[in-house]
Amino acid sequence: MFGTRITRRTVLYGLGGLTATTFAPRRAHAAADQKLVAAAAKVPMVGGQNPETAVWAFNGTVPGPEIRVRQGDHVRIAVENRLGEETTVHHHGIRLSNAMDGVPHLTQKPIAPGETFLYEFDVPDAGTYWYHPHQRSFEQVGRGLCGAFIVEEPDPIRVDRDVAWVLSDWRLLPNAQISDDFGSMHDMAHNGRVGNTVTINGRVPEAFAVRSGERIRLRLINSANARIFALRFTGHQPVVIAYDGQPVAPHPLATDAVILGPAMRVDLILDMTGKPGERFRIIDDYYRGLAYRLVDFVYEDKPLRERQLDSPIELASNTIPEPNLGSAERHEITFNGGMMGQMMMRDRGGMGGMMNMMQMMHTGKIWFINGVAMTGHVMEPMLTLRRGRSYVLAMVNETAWHHPMHLHGHAFRVISRNRTPTKLREWQDTVLMAPRENVEIAFVADNPGDWMFHCHILEHQESGMMGVIRVA
Ligand code: C2O
Ligand code: CU
Repeated sequence: MFGTRITRRTVLYGLGGLTATTFAPRRAHAAADQKLVAAAAKVPMVGGQNPETAVWAFNGTVPGPEIRVRQGDHVRIAVENRLGEETTVHHHGIRLSNAMDGVPHLTQKPIAPGETFLYEFDVPDAGTYWYHPHQRSFEQVGRGLCGAFIVEEPDPIRVDRDVAWVLSDWRLLPNAQISDDFGSMHDMAHNGRVGNTVTINGRVPEAFAVRSGERIRLRLINSANARIFALRFTGHQPVVIAYDGQPVAPHPLATDAVILGPAMRVDLILDMTGKPGERFRIIDDYYRGLAYRLVDFVYEDKPLRERQLDSPIELASNTIPEPNLGSAERHEITFNGGMMGQMMMRDRGGMGGMMNMMQMMHTGKIWFINGVAMTGHVMEPMLTLRRGRSYVLAMVNETAWHHPMHLHGHAFRVISRNRTPTKLREWQDTVLMAPRENVEIAFVADNPGDWMFHCHILEHQESGMMGVIRVA
């Protein structure tokens, strides 16, 4: 919980100051054996005089427990379903074996109410990941089922605090309850279910206590159905060290915002350069005209140290095979659909186009990958890739909307945007595409099985924007 954590840390500081406790890598190997129970719960989300919010939660909290394991660990997570409907758990971004991927019908029988399923897998890569259901996720995630999944490096970089912020977005009614208009046609055909209340680790935040001289590793996780964040840390210079859990050459964000589409993660190093007693805002100004203050950094009275740490912050790379671009096979993937989409304007036009949009609304098939709108999870693969081969997927967004495209079971390098090579060639598992943008990704298809490839705006996924990529 947001509030309790600050308190606990404050107590630690108070007792020991800069003791070994502060730096010791966390031992959380008990987490390798974990039990998650999905059930209805009530949580104090908004605070103040507001009533508690009815949610669906893992182990009664939103987000669910933070799972922390060590790179290379063998993890066993028993998921018990006490919801009124089937569920599954997908461990987003972890390159695990296909049978443990948590996709209903495709990789497992969904977990029926009252049943338990044991997820058991090895974690090959360190980094910041998360878990969430893959069954009717637009509602199950939207009601609160998700949690952070942190895989620590065997030899972590030196920081004073390693903190995960699960960012969530809710559509709350004045009585602090979740509006139950999930899967509305309007949300599906536009930019998804963007809510009106943002939480950090399940609470509407006000202040985050920091200390002068402190170095924080901040792991940002966007668990929202549809909201995109553009975070600005006023008065500070965050340095990005990882995207989607995968190390990247550390680079400061001078004036740039930290952009996080749904399901994306960013690891930042934040050196707290303010003075005791100072206060700085963190602003989210992604949506034009809708900027708001997410939270404030509030400096405690006593500095932690006088001079900033200058120990290295570059992460050791993970174990992902390098795609061979010279021999890679290339496939084109085109996205269309949605309101104001090419489907309507270019392909049909005029009245015919309007009719077509209405048919789309009726059938719930609104978004298309290579002309196909997929619903449900069992489908013929859109691509069959040969195990061990390198591939380039050249993706074209012909829609008027952003789409965070996610591939299961693999990480990929983002090698170009609008035909310009990317500077960092960043590894990601979810890449945010702007309207009309072209993005090329490259990877080795080294993980056998049927893998989902879908938009992580959960309303888009539900209304057609997904497919299966087979690695055989
Ligand atoms: Cu975050 Cu298909 O998943
Ligand atoms: Cu989308």
